Amino acid sequence: MGLVKIAKRKDVEFKYENGYAKAEILAGECPEASFFRCSLLPGSSVKPPVYSTVEHSQVFLFLQGDGYVVTPRKGFNVDDKFCVFVPDYDTEEFEIVCSSDSKKPLEYIHIITELNDYDKHCLYASKMRLPRFRHIEDGWEYYESFKSEDVKSVMLLEHRNLGRVSCGAVLGKGPCEVGQHVHNEILQWYIMLPGSKMTYTAGDESVLLEGGDISFTPTGYYHGSKVAEGDTLNYVWYEMVKDCYPGEIE
Ligand SMILES: [Fe+2]
Repeated sequence: MGLVKIAKRKDVEFKYENGYAKAEILAGECPEASFFRCSLLPGSSVKPPVYSTVEHSQVFLFLQGDGYVVTPRKGFNVDDKFCVFVPDYDTEEFEIVCSSDSKKPLEYIHIITELNDYDKHCLYASKMRLPRFRHIEDGWEYYESFKSEDVKSVMLLEHRNLGRVSCGAVLGKGPCEVGQHVHNEILQWYIMLPGSKMTYTAGDESVLLEGGDISFTPTGYYHGSKVAEGDTLNYVWYEMVKDCYPGEIE
């Protein structure tokens, strides 16, 4: 395998223990970010570990299934559609539950990232209230000139609020494309939403990505995606700046 690393959804066989399965994906591809594919069977729940603001950030990306996240103060419904959850570090514990009447297991990606001094500064400076929970419709829309006009882009975790990591969604119906472009400082993961299918090209390498697949592309390569007539372009991007945004303090 070359430049683009892919964790294919079709290769996954969840091994459940007490209704919960967790498997690391793309292990070792980025030393500063660990990705886990998780699944909860209907009626099951899990309490993930919590980390302080000098240990790790963690983000949960829900892909499918009915369930909810509960904290001591709030509850958030997943409703079988993509949403992102950022817990309030080690201020409070939380629990992820797959509803007992969910027609599918609750499937999500658990991401744990390392914190450098820039991250710690941003966490202090942004003063963002946590936990944060957003469905795609809760995000704000942005545009980029290299995308087909009817492609919709939505910001879910804004740059800098959580330091080096950010997250958003790109949505569209084929035929359409995300034209070739480059980010010189950014490591990028794509999480394909259920039912999506596109050809992703990075450098001189083209790969087919489908629902549930997760790709990792190192920084500094031209990349873009093409979607055929009748196919769906729905993916979430999750990215991490290598050290800090250019020109900002480290
Ligand atoms: Fe990009």
